[in-house]
Amino acid sequence: MNTRIIVGAQWGDEGKGKVVDLLSEKADIVARYQGGANAGHTIVFQGKKFVLHLIPSGILHPHCQCIIGNGVVIDPVALMEEIQMLEQLGISIEGRLFISHKAHLIMPYHKILDTAREHQAAGNSIGTTGRGIGPSYIDKFSRVGIRIVDLLDRKTLEEKLRANLEEKNTVLRKIYGKEELNIEKIVQEYLAFDTQIDPYITDTTALLNQAIRDGKSVLMEGAQGALLDVDHGTYPYVTSSNPTSGGACTGLGVPPTSIGTIMGVVKAYSTRVGNGPFPTELINSDGEFLRKEGAEFGATTGRPRRCGWLDLVALRYSVMINGISEIALTKIDVLNNFEEIKVCTEYHLDGKVLKYFPADSSQLETLTPHYVTLKGWNTSLAGITNYDNLPEYTKKYIQFIEEFTETKVSIVSLSPSREDTIIR
Ligand code: GDP
Ligand code: IMO
Ligand code: MG
Repeated sequence: MNTRIIVGAQWGDEGKGKVVDLLSEKADIVARYQGGANAGHTIVFQGKKFVLHLIPSGILHPHCQCIIGNGVVIDPVALMEEIQMLEQLGISIEGRLFISHKAHLIMPYHKILDTAREHQAAGNSIGTTGRGIGPSYIDKFSRVGIRIVDLLDRKTLEEKLRANLEEKNTVLRKIYGKEELNIEKIVQEYLAFDTQIDPYITDTTALLNQAIRDGKSVLMEGAQGALLDVDHGTYPYVTSSNPTSGGACTGLGVPPTSIGTIMGVVKAYSTRVGNGPFPTELINSDGEFLRKEGAEFGATTGRPRRCGWLDLVALRYSVMINGISEIALTKIDVLNNFEEIKVCTEYHLDGKVLKYFPADSSQLETLTPHYVTLKGWNTSLAGITNYDNLPEYTKKYIQFIEEFTETKVSIVSLSPSREDTIIR
């Protein structure tokens, strides 16, 4: 089977965009399976930086077909902006982008509700991206969501919107003190999207399953990361979808038996954007150094990312729940200037040693991470193209990760650019 899931193994922003772009050179299809425009996947191509939020990271390779699967929630405003950005750069989407009929839409009220709810939660807010993700998935699971297919029929769109707005407007006005939304205005706006999005709407489930049967090479691109998974992450500080590898099956309509390999993208240290537990967070000069060296500012919201040492307990958990068979290790160059580098190998809580990621994620708030200190390599990695030529202590760092997680590191990324990557 020539299929591979590329999954974020931590709290997102591991460098999935770079890795997927790199692997797309040899892929026929790249498909996004969950999340929405909360994602920000950065690709550096010919010295220029692109941030993709909805369109799969294979789009810069003209031979690649790109699918936005049923599991994704689509903000048509964000999608049209992204298509325009790519067209302005001379990247043709025509005949290459396929959007599932079954994908749910993000409506204007989802974005308003997302930020209003966050605002009201104040001290207990999740720190969402404000892209309407949670409220859109709520509607999907409440079975009142509006889907891409509904754009094709004015009557259905109007009926569904009317039913939704009746409730949403009451909530907006009574609970959040917001202005009510005008149905006509939204219908007009979304019907205009219909003509723009229509050429891309496809039965992506059939397309993908046929491609897999034909032996085509398929990458399934995760957004966010395993520790933000609504079931397996640090609930309630999570996103509202399943970024873990299992999400690829439901989010694309492909059976588990069609999955070949699963690659986890792992940052050589840890970051988290938004609120929630983060055992190895460094609120000191080392944390600031990582943020500065790693340019750790959100690709979607521009927020500074919280930084800390690599958490191997969390990573081993991530390897387990995703079935990660190989690791793409990114941003190892950010650690170049440390004399010593720490990795967390166990947690200590109430006099007990925890070797495994706790099922009750509230324990993550109070436990103490226990570190092993490794020697830094203290030199630049620029220009290294062969694994054997990496400094001894870089290789030892990588080996430590491999042994702890019992997983091979098959890709080592040394900069944002495609060229600076070692494939073993
Ligand atoms: P994603 O959401 O997982 O695709 O990751 P983001 O794009 O949000 O964040 C990763 C950031 O790190 C981007 O700015 C990338 O250009 C950058 N990046 C990716 N790989 C490397 C690497 O190996 N070294 C360095 N220094 N930066 C990298
Ligand atoms: P990529 O694909 C990092 C975080 C938000 C917040 C939580 C819930 O670029 O790795 P949401 O808007 O999804 O309801 O916010 O999840 N979050 C991400 N953090 N990378 C992402 O995507 C993220 N998408 C959402 O910061 O803590
Ligand atoms: Mg990102």
